[in-house]
Amino acid sequence: MPCLERISKMNDSIVFGCAQGWEDSLIAELPKAAAQCLAPGLVLAHKINSSSWDNLIFAREWMPEAQLIQADSANKLASACVDLWTPKLRQGLPWTWRWQTPDSWEEKADYYKNLASRVRLIQRIFQEQMRSFFPGLWKKHLGAEKLSNDKSQNAMHSGYLSDCIIVAQGVLIDKDKAWVSISTSKPQNTHKPPFFKPLWQQIHADQQAPCRSYYKLEEVWLELGQAPTEQDTCVDLGAAPGGWTWSALKRGSKVIAVDAAALAPHIQKHRNCTHCIENGYTFTPQQPADWLLCDIIARPLASLGILERWLAQGLCHNFVVAIKFRGKDPSSLLPKIAEVLKPYQHLNIRVRHLYYNHNEITIFSNAQSSNAKISV
Ligand SMILES: C[S@@+](CC[C@H](N)C(=O)[O-])C[C@H]1O[C@@H](n2cnc3c(N)ncnc32)[C@H](O)[C@@H]1O
Repeated sequence: MPCLERISKMNDSIVFGCAQGWEDSLIAELPKAAAQCLAPGLVLAHKINSSSWDNLIFAREWMPEAQLIQADSANKLASACVDLWTPKLRQGLPWTWRWQTPDSWEEKADYYKNLASRVRLIQRIFQEQMRSFFPGLWKKHLGAEKLSNDKSQNAMHSGYLSDCIIVAQGVLIDKDKAWVSISTSKPQNTHKPPFFKPLWQQIHADQQAPCRSYYKLEEVWLELGQAPTEQDTCVDLGAAPGGWTWSALKRGSKVIAVDAAALAPHIQKHRNCTHCIENGYTFTPQQPADWLLCDIIARPLASLGILERWLAQGLCHNFVVAIKFRGKDPSSLLPKIAEVLKPYQHLNIRVRHLYYNHNEITIFSNAQSSNAKISV
């Protein structure tokens, strides 16, 4: 063991990553007195049932059984990981790893920018040591590239691993301090690896998208692994200038775009787009829509009320609804969302603070869609 200054192992602890500035919101979701903020974008929790990780709104990544390591050089930090991780890697499963800072995946963040070169150095040393001293184990290592290209893992599309592999993670929070974790990924639900390109980075720029909101909906399609197709009709409430409408139109769907404001000209005149200048709160489709899309700027309970009505009246099969709020404390809103969604648990509804969400969260479900495949 290299001379680490300190290593702290906490039983049943898990470190979650969230958007910077949203640590309190994540803590509020966790059992009382069980969580604390470790650093911007990083929250430590104890004794959380792994089946509930996937239901957290503000958690984006996680590190099970995390340990804090402290040492005064990149060499010692990298060597510590070699020592800590090789016993588990000897189990023989394929494995993958990543060293990063908590904000590595943020669209715009510079809090940890001074640590970026140190992370690269640790990565290089770790890699060299594994290659030189443990070539057999290194052979079993899967680079992020390989994982992402492996369709059987379906990782690019869902962001989740479908096979068991070992996931080793290190997150540097200070020059001499890192949280590290090694665990076996569980298929489907409980291990969303932070080392893939995050979903928002997989979204290509689209010159025809009239606004940034477009990317929010594209992120939802990636989260769902599914998007509307040419067989589908979408109703887009609060559609202008047309980012969400465009996201559906480009996949061949028909869209009823409801908004008093103007749509971008190329969307307005698209043959599959019908612009309805009506009130989104009261708009009712003649027949159930395959997708309700709702991004109306409204009080949070008003948007939630729209979803509640559409679900109660069976007006849509699937939906994506953005719930906007002021400030950074949506905690009073969460019990209300849970109450409204309770009768619809069978719809596998997800509530997420997406990368493209700032002061809003997105509620979505594709439980009643045909087996449309994503086409981003
Ligand atoms: C955030 S923008 C929607 C952006 C849109 N999703 C896009 O991608 O282009 C919110 C829209 O809600 C519309 N809106 C506000 N109240 C509405 C209402 N009662 N009915 C329909 N639209 C409404 C506004 O006119 C505005 O265009």
